[in-house]
Amino acid sequence: MTEQVDDAHPRQVNPLLIESIRSEIQAVGGALSFDRYMELALYHPELGYYTHPRTRIGKAGDFITSVSIGHCFGKLLARHLVSPISKLAAGSGDIVLVEAGAEGGQLGLDVMHELEDVLPASIYDRLCYVAIEPFPSKREHLAKVFGDVDADRFRVVSGWQELAGSRGVLIANEILDAMPVKRLRWRNGSWLQICVANGEQAGSVFHEVEMPIENPELSEVVDTLPLTLEDGFTIELNMGLKGWLHDLAQAFEMLYCCLIDYGLCEGEVFSPARKSGTLRGYLRHQAHDCPFSRPGITDLTAHVDFDRVMAIAKTTGFNIINFTDQHRFLVNAAKSWLLEIEQSGAMDDETRKLLHQFQSLSHPTMMGGVFKVLEMTRGIPDGFL
Ligand SMILES: C[S@@+](CC[C@H](N)C(=O)[O-])C[C@H]1O[C@@H](n2cnc3c(N)ncnc32)[C@H](O)[C@@H]1O
Repeated sequence: MTEQVDDAHPRQVNPLLIESIRSEIQAVGGALSFDRYMELALYHPELGYYTHPRTRIGKAGDFITSVSIGHCFGKLLARHLVSPISKLAAGSGDIVLVEAGAEGGQLGLDVMHELEDVLPASIYDRLCYVAIEPFPSKREHLAKVFGDVDADRFRVVSGWQELAGSRGVLIANEILDAMPVKRLRWRNGSWLQICVANGEQAGSVFHEVEMPIENPELSEVVDTLPLTLEDGFTIELNMGLKGWLHDLAQAFEMLYCCLIDYGLCEGEVFSPARKSGTLRGYLRHQAHDCPFSRPGITDLTAHVDFDRVMAIAKTTGFNIINFTDQHRFLVNAAKSWLLEIEQSGAMDDETRKLLHQFQSLSHPTMMGGVFKVLEMTRGIPDGFL
């Protein structure tokens, strides 16, 4: 293995990351929980897939997102946000538009650009965009991107504590699927936890081992899982979700949030078609299901279990106001824009391009069906929005 850390898109696995994972496996006695392995592969402070500088999203990266399709997604999301922002702005004081998982910052730029056009100036002037980014190197990058645009209106902070008591809107596109997950397998009549062990197998330097579940917090969740599945049935469980939603809920005095991601609902997690789980690796637009293939240069992701997100959100004090697919969400959000196009009677190249993007983003057989949108509030009386 050769180290290539300077390339904008390294192709070689970094041996330092492998060594770091190996030593942690040894330190815990030979079987590392899968979510910790995923955390190291994606978020090792310097060598993780998401922390090391590289092109991750778009044609030159490993996968596309709705944001990388073009400006249309941010434009329509902004139009949808006009109503909650305007209502939250009814009192005095500043309003924040917070983004979690901003990655390169493009969605923030697209949304704010459109909001400047569609919000009354009296409200836009009181609006500030804040990206929550836990990693210093990514904060630095985002600060540069936003600083080049408008350093006064765009801020980058390290955590929720910096938002304490604020009033605003949170957007997050494809963050939940990028959070580390545990993997569980139904084996011979009980649930086991899939852990990671050292040792070559099928061309990878790590392999999986099935271990009994001893962690009380995990056992509590496992006690709620079905017990009549085919042997070998595998699922993913995001144990970090509860803490994340709790911190989000605590950070704001009044919050409307919009979480967008690909995922499953209405028990789909346990459908026979999902027998092997949903964990996937992405490298240069090729998907595979081996989580140990090329750690640190491969994205690892799992479908979001929206049934679980909504159940935890409710116990955390969120009010669920809408759960739908991206198709319905965007078609609704696009109404005013489509009407403007029709009324103007003009069709320039830019509009044509945006309409083409709208089709890819909203078509039920394309991104419109796979992606789901969850809208929730906290600290906002029923009927206020
Ligand atoms: C798939 S990328 C998001 C893509 C981007 N939002 C877009 O739509 O193009 C996932 C991002 O979530 C970030 N992330 C993961 N966990 C996070 C957390 N707890 N807080 C903030 N960002 C997080 C990752 O660092 C990464 O930038």
